[in-house]
Amino acid sequence: QGREKGDGADLPPLERLRREASTCTRCPLHCHATQTVFGEGPENASVMFVGEQPGDTEDLAGKPFIGPAGKVFDEAVAVAGIDRHQAYVTNAVKHFKYERRGKRRIHMRPEAGEVAHCRWWLAKEIEIIRPRIVVALGATAYLSLTGESRPIAEVRSMPIPMQDNRMLLVTTHPAAILRMPNEDLRARSLTAFRSDLVGVKRLS
Ligand code: URA
Repeated sequence: QGREKGDGADLPPLERLRREASTCTRCPLHCHATQTVFGEGPENASVMFVGEQPGDTEDLAGKPFIGPAGKVFDEAVAVAGIDRHQAYVTNAVKHFKYERRGKRRIHMRPEAGEVAHCRWWLAKEIEIIRPRIVVALGATAYLSLTGESRPIAEVRSMPIPMQDNRMLLVTTHPAAILRMPNEDLRARSLTAFRSDLVGVKRLS
């Protein structure tokens, strides 16, 4: 059978997946989001970072971790000696979930059902990229990757063996650092986040 021109069959697997995800309607979150925000990074990345879901900035630009949380992330990976462009950066949920307050769109945490629907894409990303280390940034990523709902403090900073000789490392979400109620807690949380990323660098 001949291939339809433009059906994507000749694209590399990750690009084909990205194209498929761009029209995802697996859950209702696509109805209000601007676009699917798929993962970014090389197909042969050995480290994969998994966040929660795109924020307002990411939803508009179509790229993960480029807003305020992305700045914290970028700075911390750089301090740890990790090149973000050599890593694969994605989210557990690929559409922005929010509530509207006037002109502002306020982030809402995805529910377990939404995470479960979107896990299909994350599993495919892992299958194609086969990273040696997966870093869960926060509880939603941890839920998506393991199916378990646990406080991050219980599983943080220690490598957890996964299928296929892969290691899972759990740390805080960079947005949680920004939400700390005072400067002292923010500084401590940032130091702990950077130290976890140094651990990722050592493992990699
Ligand atoms: N928070 C996330 O979890 N992911 C992003 O891409 C941006 C903010």
